[in-house]
Formats: sequence, structure tokens, C-alpha cells
Amino acid sequence: MKTKVEVVLRNIGQLLTMDSGDDGLGDEGKDPIAGLGLTLDAALAMGGGKVLWSGKESELENQLDFKGAEIVDVGGRVVMPGLVDCHTHSVFAGSRAQEFSRRVGGASYEEILAAGGGIHSTVNATRAAGIEILVATAKTRLDRFLSFGVTTVEIKSGYGLELGTELKMLKAAQEVDRIHPVDVIPTLLAAHVIPKEYKKDRNSYIGLITKEILPRVAQDGLARFCDVFCDQGAFTIEESRLILQEGKKHGLVPRIHGEQLSRSGSVALAVELDASSIDHLENASEQDARLLASSNTVAVLLPGATYFLGKKDFADGRTLADAGCKVAVSTDFNPGSSHTENLPLMMNMACLYNHLYPREALLSTTKWAADALRMGDSIGTLRPGAKADVLVLDLRDYRTFIYHFGVNHTHKVYKNGALVYTRQIA
Ligand code: NIG
Ligand code: FE
Repeated sequence: MKTKVEVVLRNIGQLLTMDSGDDGLGDEGKDPIAGLGLTLDAALAMGGGKVLWSGKESELENQLDFKGAEIVDVGGRVVMPGLVDCHTHSVFAGSRAQEFSRRVGGASYEEILAAGGGIHSTVNATRAAGIEILVATAKTRLDRFLSFGVTTVEIKSGYGLELGTELKMLKAAQEVDRIHPVDVIPTLLAAHVIPKEYKKDRNSYIGLITKEILPRVAQDGLARFCDVFCDQGAFTIEESRLILQEGKKHGLVPRIHGEQLSRSGSVALAVELDASSIDHLENASEQDARLLASSNTVAVLLPGATYFLGKKDFADGRTLADAGCKVAVSTDFNPGSSHTENLPLMMNMACLYNHLYPREALLSTTKWAADALRMGDSIGTLRPGAKADVLVLDLRDYRTFIYHFGVNHTHKVYKNGALVYTRQIA
């Protein structure tokens, strides 16, 4: 039986499906629109939580039986897929505002971490917090993500560094997924740093991860991915390989925080393990770019982290994109190195500092971010059959989305075909 059309968005000035089709605007220069699936004067039909049809509005009547559907005139606005934030640390307790002041005063992130602050201070606060607080604060953060047009958010654990608190964080992520319209995709990051109590015995902590935390998380179905912070002050290549291989045995897809603070060689490890993504990449080389381009691993850029750490060594997104890599962009939302839910702002930074073209930045938070989560079949595009996660922008020209930066352009958001957010104008 054909799915019934429930909602039709009509009078769409510019529809971006991130799929096939392209009505060029004619002045894109070096930034071709190929890949955005741009249709001018378009309509989009949804039903059963999915996209059913999109195309020229003039073809709507011939193509579709939409009797009884709700018809929404979007007033010539831009419509595109809901954004996907593929790398966040949105469950945690406490604040690092004081650390921010210290960093502004000259202390480095690495120094603060080595002296037992940074991630360790969030670990203390998160261990002490009840699950209700973790859920309530994460829910507020998802509200903010949604207000910026984000409909899927990956969330990592990693502020527990012991079985009980890692489970508590992942259960908080599961609960917030249940009560909030934004979809949450959970990742185990027990290998974030070595906890203080294991400083002199790192192998025992790695044993705890591989023998206790991973099996339990997998058994309880609490995570899809296993991530490792493979960097100076965190885990070595050998340790990362061991943890990620063990995760794979338990069905968790590998991901890596790599090449951020130092050069570790983690791109080769990501490719070797068929990781879904390698994230950060400030210290990646041209050879790394070629290697990644030949793999299934998505390069995730986190310009907010470089910016917020007051550094200038932004990842070379241009080289990665020119080599043919799938390049995603994410907020890396967390209390220490990137404290913002504003994903559109990251697209602006990705253009100016990672040197992506605006077209690539639009794909980096939709189609390629979905690929980093191995969810390209269901989210990140508006092709028929995809989830009807739809962002209506209060804009007539999609190019203004990235160009007019630091403000919120969201007009409405649909999740699984249902209206979940309307921007209130004061
Ligand atoms: O992605 N690189 C390691 N982890 C986070 C930072 C977490 C924190 O400082 O609390 C990141 O930048
Ligand atoms: Fe991160």
C-alpha cells in the first residue's frame, strides 16, 4: 500500500535535497552547486515520517495524490535537510568557565589537563551528579541544537572513566533521546584520558575498558560507536588499536579523536580499522588526505575546538576535500574545548579557516555528517525514503545561511514529518 501524504510544503523558493538534480544560480564560481540537489520553486511531500516526493511545484498535481494532506506555504523560503551534528560531548555536569578565564590569561589546555584539571574536573563533577541532572542539562542543550536546525546529535561518554559513571552517562543519553525530538546517537569514549587513580598503572585502566566497560555497554545496547582520544596526554596508537579492536569484536564501530594536539599517525589506524570517522585532524598531512580519500572513513573537522583553544592551526580542509575525502563538520560541543551548540557558525568557520567552499560546508553538516555516523541511508538528505527531518530557513537564498554568520536563521523544523520547532519572533 502506498504511504499516505500527510504534509506538503509548497512555495519553497530553494529546495536543497543534498541528492541529485541541480538548478544552478549561475554565479557559483569555483564553488559549483553539484551535490546540493537544488530545485527552485519546489514542493516537498512527507508521510509516515519519511520524505515521499520532492520536485518542481508545477509538477506537484500531476505527480502526487495529496488529498487530505496538510498544505503548508513556506513563503518562498529555503528548505534543506535537518542538520546532523556527528561529534558532541553533550552529557556532562559542571562548568569550566573558570578554566576559560585561566586559558585567556595564558595557561594552555594541555597544561591544565596535565595538572589534573580540564577533562578531569568534568569527570569529578559528572561522577558526583545524579542521572536526573545529566538528563535535564542534556535536554536543555538539545533544545539549543534544535533551535539551530539540528535534528540528529551524536553524544559521547568519557567523563566517567569508571564503569558506573560511563553507564550513567550513556543511560542519560538514552533517556534524553526518548524524551526529546532530536535523535541521539550514543558513543562510548571510556578511552578519553587515563583517570587520575590509574595514572601510574595505565594498563589496568585499559584492561578495565576492554574486559568490563566495553562488554557491558555492548551487552546493554548503550552505544553504537567506540571512540578513542589518540593523542599526547591521552592514548597511544597501540593502546587505541587494542581498545578499538576489542570494541569491534563487540559490534561497536570505531571512531578516533586524532591528530589534534600532536601528530600521532592515527589516520592510518582509522583506515586500518575501517573507522567511520577520524575527527580533529589539525596535524594531518597530505599523505593522510590521500589515504583517507581511498577509504570509507569520513574526515570530521571541528573548527570550534581550534578556535576556542585560541589556536591557529585549523585543519587543512581544502587539502582533504581536494584529495576526494568526505569532509564533515561538527561542533565538538563540550565544556572544555568547544562550548557551543551553534553548528551553522561552525560552517562559517569551516569556510574561512578550514577553507571549504560554502557548498562543501552545507554537505559537511548533512550528507557527510550522516556518513560519519554510517546513517547516510536515512538522514542527511531529503531523497525519497529518507527521514522527513526538514529545516525551513528564514531565508530566500541558501548562500546567506553561511554568509550571515553568528545569528539564528531557523524558521521551522520538522522531525520525522512532524513540526517540532517554530522560531518565535519577539
Ligand atoms: O574533542 N579531545 C578530547 N576531547 C574533547 C575535549 C573534552 C574536554 O575538554 O572536556 C575534544 O576536544
Ligand atoms: Fe571531541
